[in-house]
Amino acid sequence: MSRSPSHEVDAPSDIAVRFERVSRRYERADAPVNALDGVDLSIRRGDIFGVIGHSGAGKSTLIRMVNALDSPTSGAVFVDGVNVSDLSAGRLRDARKTTAMIFQQFQLLETVTVLDNVAMPLRLDGVSRREARERATEALQFVGLSDRVGSYPGQLSGGQKQRVGIARAIVRNPAVLLCDEATSALDPSTTLQIIDLLRRVNREYGTTILVITHEMDVIKDLCHTVAVMEDGRVVEQGSVMEVFVQPQTPIARSFVGTVIPQEIPGRVRARMGTAPLWRLRFLDDEVTTPIVGGLISEFGLQVNILHADMTDLQERTVGHMIIQVEGPQDRRDAAYAYLAERVVSIEEVFA
Ligand SMILES: Nc1ncnc2c1ncn2[C@@H]1O[C@H](COP(=O)(O)OP(=O)(O)OP(=O)(O)O)[C@@H](O)[C@H]1O
Ligand SMILES: [Mg+2]
Repeated sequence: MSRSPSHEVDAPSDIAVRFERVSRRYERADAPVNALDGVDLSIRRGDIFGVIGHSGAGKSTLIRMVNALDSPTSGAVFVDGVNVSDLSAGRLRDARKTTAMIFQQFQLLETVTVLDNVAMPLRLDGVSRREARERATEALQFVGLSDRVGSYPGQLSGGQKQRVGIARAIVRNPAVLLCDEATSALDPSTTLQIIDLLRRVNREYGTTILVITHEMDVIKDLCHTVAVMEDGRVVEQGSVMEVFVQPQTPIARSFVGTVIPQEIPGRVRARMGTAPLWRLRFLDDEVTTPIVGGLISEFGLQVNILHADMTDLQERTVGHMIIQVEGPQDRRDAAYAYLAERVVSIEEVFA
């Protein structure tokens, strides 16, 4: 292999995709748009990395940089150590082989069979028809569609079509799988099946997966790491656990709130007195520790539970509770310190 010029190569090999101060400006007649605005991101090899944001946040623009369908106005994108924003056409074709993409609308060819849809990327690479079909058959077996190889896309359900999309994406064994709203056209139970399948792709082939979505449930069930985008910028990122347990920015709180309520319900607020409200967050065993009992028996306080819920997250349990505590100030302070030692986080909230 010829040695690449040094400016095209990124050394750390545990990073699959790296964005370095990436901006993308679209000049438009009405007003220019900064679809990406100084994005820095590193996606570890083998990670399932989710990017969440509202419509227009820049998510699709971000993902298109990875397979070089678009390129930055400034900054650079490295995939597998190669600067894909700065390649000649021939090298670009090679670099694109390290990525594959699945789409919301599946993008299958309606006039060829499922088998030939999956074999297509290999045929375009010049692989013989026979070998391409063999490898496509294996990929279809992996996604559980061995019995539909001869069907046409029009004869399949949405979930089955997305399985074909996944088979077609993995048939070349890409280092990075890109998913742009891959489950947004599917019903909830089919979404869960596709999520399971993507987790298997990640586990069994070690494929790094970049997931773009506006659904926090997808982040919760599929991803290990998450970045939150707003107006072309990454405003928050961390492990899914960190961001769900303690979202830092208003937008992250509002996304987390679609899965774990963050606000005090209006009907509760209407009936609340003036005593302080505390928001508690728990993890795993803490969820079952009798904390409220302790406040009553050890501190003689009155405790009113306004809200409590538990959510399964990455094979762990996250608890969330809002309580109102009544009693003398010194005992409330002691109780606050007592709780701070026993839960992941405690904060006073204001209705
Ligand atoms: N080719 C283009 N020309 C001009 N503006 C564009 C182009 N592509 C995207 N934009 C603008 O860039 C911004 C980001 O668009 P992008 O498609 O990345 O958002 P998104 O987060 O994927 O949104 P959605 O959730 O609706 O898919 C939007 O304001 C969009 O209008
Ligand atoms: Mg989009």
